[in-house]
Amino acid sequence: MIKVSVLGYGTVGSGVVEILRENADIITKRTGEEIVVKSVLDLRDFPGDPVQDIIVHDFEEIKNDTEVQIVVETMGGLHPAYEFVKAALESGKSVCTSNKALVAAYGPELLEIAQSHNVNFLFEASVGGGIPIIRPLKISLAPDEILEISGILNGTTNYILTEMTDKGSDFDSVLKEAQEKGYAEKDPTADVEGYDACRKIAILTSLAYGKQLDFEDIYTEGITKITDRDIAYAKEIGAKVKIFGSSKKSGDKVSAMVAPKLITSSHPLYSVDGVFNAILVKGNMVGDVMFYGQGAGKLATASAVVSDIIDEAKHVNVNMKTLWDHEKLALMPLDEVTSKFLVRVKGNRESVQDAVEKAFGKVTPVDAGFDDEFGFVTEEITEGAYAGAAKQVEVINKIRFDA
Ligand code: HSE
Repeated sequence: MIKVSVLGYGTVGSGVVEILRENADIITKRTGEEIVVKSVLDLRDFPGDPVQDIIVHDFEEIKNDTEVQIVVETMGGLHPAYEFVKAALESGKSVCTSNKALVAAYGPELLEIAQSHNVNFLFEASVGGGIPIIRPLKISLAPDEILEISGILNGTTNYILTEMTDKGSDFDSVLKEAQEKGYAEKDPTADVEGYDACRKIAILTSLAYGKQLDFEDIYTEGITKITDRDIAYAKEIGAKVKIFGSSKKSGDKVSAMVAPKLITSSHPLYSVDGVFNAILVKGNMVGDVMFYGQGAGKLATASAVVSDIIDEAKHVNVNMKTLWDHEKLALMPLDEVTSKFLVRVKGNRESVQDAVEKAFGKVTPVDAGFDDEFGFVTEEITEGAYAGAAKQVEVINKIRFDA
């Protein structure tokens, strides 16, 4: 029998307890051992709940409990999650977590501590909720050199962009509706500004290349500037606006970015709508592989956490080495990254087209029916060239075009 402690009885933590109870038979068969929740750490009590008798309020109790072999961190936030996870690993317990902030900030250090104590630190649920992506990247795609990762990594923003596209609603009203339905947080900043997706692509890229990509180094642009007019232009060119966390290998350099992008129906992620997430990975041998599913939600996320518990229960006293060193991954300077851009500038076509072509070179005009502005798509140019050209005209907005 393997005994487990869960830190934090919120949405994901309670989902983990529920899955271990509901699916106990199949989990026992697949693990080869019974997995039992011995204690749950939370500041609150839960009278009437199945865990009411195993709630503890002091982490030291769990740390010093020699029967507990696996600690599940579902508290979220950096502190005290970091201190608790570190102490659990140092006490010889394996840890699994759904906490992307923790993994993005302390991944290599916690993996190193796990290795030196011959235990495991797993984090399948930290990216893509219920979508298996961390284990496939570490194991199934281990034979491949990863050439590219493109992910719709945030359900809230994908929902907002889908509603704006399908119903013509504006950003503010869709966000309000998403908050009312419980999809978006009360403070949606991390989602709509791209910070959530940024941590997720930082984790995936670090695992793909075995080196630390600091999320602070990734150019990150959210969706707050996307308007109904941008959506109208997107429709005019047969495209959808999606926010991507992406990274790409070019020669010996890697570029990474979080930004809204236009994609057309030929793109494999074109049909990923609503709160769903999807990740496209390009390997140099396997080619394109795609992972799709619920990127958030109680049972979906908890299912990924329980997959880690099972893996750890099957690897007691065996460290499954994860290649993710402290050494920093060198990023290609943003100025050198290339893209096509859909650009909207102030002024009608007749008055600004010459200035636009002088600044951007050859462009393809897009008429979305607005006579107070001029929209166009550039050729493939560098970010540096775009920034230089954009200074010469009055840009209303720009969206990168993954065509
Ligand atoms: N706020 C996140 C989302 C939850 O909307 O995708 C999962 O990280």
